[in-house]
Amino acid sequence: MAFTATVSGRRVACGPDQSVLDAFLRAGAWMPNSCNQGTCGTCKVRVLSGEVDHRDSPLGTLTEDERAAGLALACQARLRSDAEVAPSGPGGGSAGRRTHPLRDLDAVVVDIEDMARDTRRVRLDLAEPLAFHAGQYVELTVPGSGARRQYSLANVADDDQVLELHVRLVPGGAATERWIFDGLAVGDRVRAAGPLGDFFLDPEDDDGGEPMVLIGGGTGLAPLLGVVRTALARRPGREILLYHGVRGAADLYDLDLLTRLSETHPNVNVVPVLSHESPPDGTFYRTGLPTDLFLDDVGSARGWSGWLCGPPGMVEAGVRAFKRRRMAPRLIHRETFTPAH
Ligand code: FES
Repeated sequence: MAFTATVSGRRVACGPDQSVLDAFLRAGAWMPNSCNQGTCGTCKVRVLSGEVDHRDSPLGTLTEDERAAGLALACQARLRSDAEVAPSGPGGGSAGRRTHPLRDLDAVVVDIEDMARDTRRVRLDLAEPLAFHAGQYVELTVPGSGARRQYSLANVADDDQVLELHVRLVPGGAATERWIFDGLAVGDRVRAAGPLGDFFLDPEDDDGGEPMVLIGGGTGLAPLLGVVRTALARRPGREILLYHGVRGAADLYDLDLLTRLSETHPNVNVVPVLSHESPPDGTFYRTGLPTDLFLDDVGSARGWSGWLCGPPGMVEAGVRAFKRRRMAPRLIHRETFTPAH
């Protein structure tokens, strides 16, 4: 039986096995969200009336005390009655606003390219263009197991017909080693859903044009490419500092694109960073961790915005580094890779 969920006066129908978050996003009503897997806490809501089933909400993200106090994770909770909820986090003020609806995607693989060591670019052609914000992600369903895996879009929003995903091989991974790197072929149909996530720029009218620092670990570069190109299309003179952190030179990719960006925009500084190798002679690469290099390079990031996408350790180190350089927490944006792939 379907119930209704209400946020900020916006009421949507919610199916019996549908999460509250899914119901809002599919109706085109914004609800803060990031991981969609119960691990980040971004979608935490206060249940003002009605009853929810917490389903698979992990205790590490939603404690017993929080449940007793009426909190729930919208990405996990199912309704047991009509309910009204209010987001409890900092981005809650925008809940219920119109957004690009989440939907199932009919996609066909049109290109697979090995672009760096153990790294593939996969392009998916859509039957219908997808409305999204640059920096958001889509979820692919792994054939057979039905498991879902999340991949950020490297596209800008106008580039809405052929989605570009960057995929890193994870040894033993059901989605990567046993599918995308072994078996997936041009012409295959792929089940997907999107857009998801909150890793995107504010609407143009609210975009202050502040300097930006972006740090991507490995394929964490993907959403940064969409965010940077969108930011530059709005304000070509904006100051941008982009670090791409990888283990060795063989892991770098899209250097042509990044070099072109910095050649056409003197205000864009791109820094490839190798953590496990010295830079080859004649390159401008640097050695170390991008978060440490940021601390060396920037004395104060007050008034800047920060963008982090990569493994949990890198994202946590980035948040600490940004705060040490006086960046306001509300200007720190993060997208953390889900560990199991
Ligand atoms: Fe729900 Fe992350 S815990 S979006």
